[in-house]
Amino acid sequence: MKLSEARKDYYRKRAKNDGFRSRSAYKLLQLNKSYHFLKKGSRVIDFGSYPGGWLQVAKGEVGQDGLVIGTDLKQIDYLEDVVLLNYSVEDPELQEYLIGHIRHVDVVLSDLSPNISGIWEIDHITQINLSRVAFSLATRVLKDGGAGIFKVFDGDTLRAFVKELSTRFQRVKISKPDASRQSSSESYLVCSGFRE
Ligand SMILES: C[S@@+](CC[C@H](N)C(=O)[O-])C[C@H]1O[C@@H](n2cnc3c(N)ncnc32)[C@H](O)[C@@H]1O
Repeated sequence: MKLSEARKDYYRKRAKNDGFRSRSAYKLLQLNKSYHFLKKGSRVIDFGSYPGGWLQVAKGEVGQDGLVIGTDLKQIDYLEDVVLLNYSVEDPELQEYLIGHIRHVDVVLSDLSPNISGIWEIDHITQINLSRVAFSLATRVLKDGGAGIFKVFDGDTLRAFVKELSTRFQRVKISKPDASRQSSSESYLVCSGFRE
């Protein structure tokens, strides 16, 4: 077994033991351990939530006084005290609902990933464009000082996206948690200090 496979296997087993729906849960736990953006009572929106590992982590961190909303193209199975939506981030109905009804959000999370075509340039730009939609929505719902975590696939457009984020967030850092395979080209942009 290759080392990257062994690591994947390790986190898969661990997720099963810990009751997490996905090994991705550890990516969010590790990011939050380093950057502390999820707090008790926080209001959180998570884009690209299926099957729900990040939602479980977010709910655990924000507690009973917090609010967690998740949406995905795929139907997410029931999770206690989490608002589950079954919409594309690009759907105007979802966008109108969030912008019209959910304001003063503390954290926007995005683990959005398109279906992989295998042609890297296409997958990269498709993924960054999904993250751009998440960022655009974040700018409409985040409160002053809020945070955003955006998954990104490495490639030519990444630098331009970081620049776009920097126009609205005071700090933008790039991070690759241990639970993210070294062989994968994904990483996470950890943004804080949102300016309304
Ligand atoms: C890596 S998975 C997310 C895993 C999740 N964070 C977890 O912890 O379980 C990426 C998700 O993005 C979703 N996705 C892709 N395009 C989307 C879109 N346009 N709108 C909403 N979700 C989308 C996929 O359906 C997939 O479930």
